[in-house]
Amino acid sequence: MSDFEKLINRFKDKINNAHNSLELDKIRSEIFGKSGLINTEFKKLGSLSPDDKKKIASEINNAKQELTKLFNQKSTGLQDTEIDEQLKKEKDDVTLPEKDFSIGKIHPVSQVIDEISSIFSEIGFSVEEGPDVESEYYNFTALNTPENHPAKDMHDTFYIEENMKTLLRTHTSPVQVRTMLKGKPPFKIIAPGRTYRSDSDQTHTPMFHQLEGLHIDKNITMGHLKGCLNYFIKEFFEINKIKMRFRPSHFPFTEPSAEVDIGYRIENNKIIIGEGDKWLEILGCGMVHPNVLKNSKVDPNKYQGFAFGIGIDRLAMLKYGINDLRSFFECDYRWLNYYGFDPLDVPTNYRGLSK
Ligand code: PHE
Repeated sequence: MSDFEKLINRFKDKINNAHNSLELDKIRSEIFGKSGLINTEFKKLGSLSPDDKKKIASEINNAKQELTKLFNQKSTGLQDTEIDEQLKKEKDDVTLPEKDFSIGKIHPVSQVIDEISSIFSEIGFSVEEGPDVESEYYNFTALNTPENHPAKDMHDTFYIEENMKTLLRTHTSPVQVRTMLKGKPPFKIIAPGRTYRSDSDQTHTPMFHQLEGLHIDKNITMGHLKGCLNYFIKEFFEINKIKMRFRPSHFPFTEPSAEVDIGYRIENNKIIIGEGDKWLEILGCGMVHPNVLKNSKVDPNKYQGFAFGIGIDRLAMLKYGINDLRSFFECDYRWLNYYGFDPLDVPTNYRGLSK
């Protein structure tokens, strides 16, 4: 191998072993710079005979071409790895335009469920849940509902199976039975959740929300039921005086049964709760029927108590002045932005529980 070839090979190795673009740039001037390898070699030609000149010049040109090719390959390779490494390091590109973000809002129904739950938890109720897809047994039969009861009609209830054994629960009352079967008395629970009925107009949607209440112990009476609801309504609407009336009613799973209305009046298009001579129905209730206790493995000779079922959506509409029930479920972000609650804030129209 000639000295020239050895020299070229040394530079090839140099190029191959360069660790980064900076090093490679130095090597570039060592080879191709003004006083670099190639020029120095060309300068040497002057002292040679014409024949040698031709031969050596073409050797230098070949070497130049080879080195240039190798150099370019190495250079692209190094740049690629350097960019990759930089991208790995720079997770945050501060030059990007800022991302648009907005804070979500709590839906009025969720807000009201939270409020109601905390009001009942203050007097010792705990929260239970049951499935939306329920069996006919828990939704009707265990709740003492006769075979021919109109609520069981296909027109009212969404059945999941043709044999009518599985359905979307029509109320939260099946959670009463599920809770009692699960444990031992006494029971003091509330159960909020979604319920379904084949109904749709300004005050009815096929899916709506209820909150079940159940208190079973040895000496629970209608008086306790009244006291409990009285406390709840005062706390919920944040008023000291309420007008409440129990109207006799009928539910297969309670005896006696009642529907509860609260008194209100309208002033400047706003509903004022607790005064006036108009009545609004807000819940159904009663003393749990002995058959329901039996179906739930609770001895009706030892235990008794009350249950109630509150329409949550209606309470939310009343408290926060929302007129159309259907708007609750249309998933319109503009609506939610207006009526929703800031997740980290106490709502501005929430004055705190009045004690
Ligand atoms: N489940 C009844 C309804 O949906 C309400 C209710 C619950 C009545 C508990 C009495 C006791 O209308």
